[in-house]
Amino acid sequence: MSKPLLIRQAQILLPDGDFLQGDVLTQAGRIAQVSPEIRASDLPADAQILDATGLTLLPGMIDPQVHFREPGLEHKEDLFTASCACARGGITSFLEMPNTRPLTIDQAALDDKLRRASEKSLVNYGFFIGATADNLEALLTANPVCGIKIFMGSMHGALLIDQEDLLEKIFAQGDRLIAVHAEDQARIFQRREQFAGITDPAIHSQIQDSQAALMATQLALKLSKKYRRRLHILHLSTAAEAELLRQDKPAWVTAEVTPQHLLLNTDAYATIGTLAQMNPPLRSAHDNEVLWQALRDGVLDLIATDHAPHTLEEKAQGYPHTPSGMPGVETSMALMLTQAMQGRCTVPQVANWMSTAVAKAYQIPNKGLIQPGYDADLVLVDLNTYHPVRREEVVSKCGWSSFEGWNLTGWAVLTIVGGQIAFERGQLHTEVRGKALQFG
Ligand code: DOR
Repeated sequence: MSKPLLIRQAQILLPDGDFLQGDVLTQAGRIAQVSPEIRASDLPADAQILDATGLTLLPGMIDPQVHFREPGLEHKEDLFTASCACARGGITSFLEMPNTRPLTIDQAALDDKLRRASEKSLVNYGFFIGATADNLEALLTANPVCGIKIFMGSMHGALLIDQEDLLEKIFAQGDRLIAVHAEDQARIFQRREQFAGITDPAIHSQIQDSQAALMATQLALKLSKKYRRRLHILHLSTAAEAELLRQDKPAWVTAEVTPQHLLLNTDAYATIGTLAQMNPPLRSAHDNEVLWQALRDGVLDLIATDHAPHTLEEKAQGYPHTPSGMPGVETSMALMLTQAMQGRCTVPQVANWMSTAVAKAYQIPNKGLIQPGYDADLVLVDLNTYHPVRREEVVSKCGWSSFEGWNLTGWAVLTIVGGQIAFERGQLHTEVRGKALQFG
């Protein structure tokens, strides 16, 4: 069990969105006290004291969409390296996707991932179960899961569910959260043929175009409304989808956006080539603006990274042989806090989109707020100094970032998981282990 920890004189983000200059005491993995001053003489003898003067204390970030590649694809990433990257990025919990090998489509595969994470992960973990054409029973019973993942497109093999009748069967049964990767596979197939032979990666955004995303989101919304089924739209990427939700978003629907869909657009292909290739693809500068507005207005609820690392060798294969995806957990919080410091949003908004609202959407108890009784998942950030994203500092096994060279503030100085220090001023405490998340 972790030792008591006193964090002294931080700017503490309180649940009401105000800041308090004060102290936080953690004990037995929980937040024990939040107050303007906790006297050292009141502390247990073994308490560790941290001076946080000049730093800001936020609830630990919860990344609700990552691909950590274990088991089966560990040459790209594994649960240890990915969780180290999380700790560096201020992310204290993650929700991971089922496209590992074997696929996470039954209880046995889920149990295997939970065991691996308990042995290796520095931060807290939860897993999705993936829908296939014939695992409905597992979708209803596998436990614990944060939700059911459906790839409506951009996938091949058993995880691709691109037929409406199959989708409808899944939406019709049970009440678990369904998270969709919304791209229309038939349209993607047709456009792949139409643009065959083009090797400029910029064509990726035209092949998997906005219309493909809109069509799938419309279908998911239709089914969600028909069955009043809890729906979460993953990495929403287009102005058209944001406008659709602005007109018509049932109370049981949530949606997320990635930092890359807010901050990068199709111009990025010219500078970083296939490192900009992901699914759904990057869009236009206009889409960036509309997504920002939708996020600020509450049409979009959460930020997720879709951390999807591939090796540089894989990314060098030449389009269309290059895999889609980019890493994100190390940079997401600093990217968003930099935007806040530059006036595009506020620090409390970032903490809400990346922590409080995530805990709420996935019904993760006792997380996402700094208040007594809540889990001591915390991040101390420095909002005063800037430091660039450097390839040689990347902790993720893939060893690169699409944001290299971006000068960011709001980097994690200290990341605390269940009261234990997992990352401290550039150093990982690799012996720290997170816990399995609970849902509902
Ligand atoms: O670009 C992507 N890559 N998008 C996804 O949804 C999957 C991911 C991957 O696993 O590589």
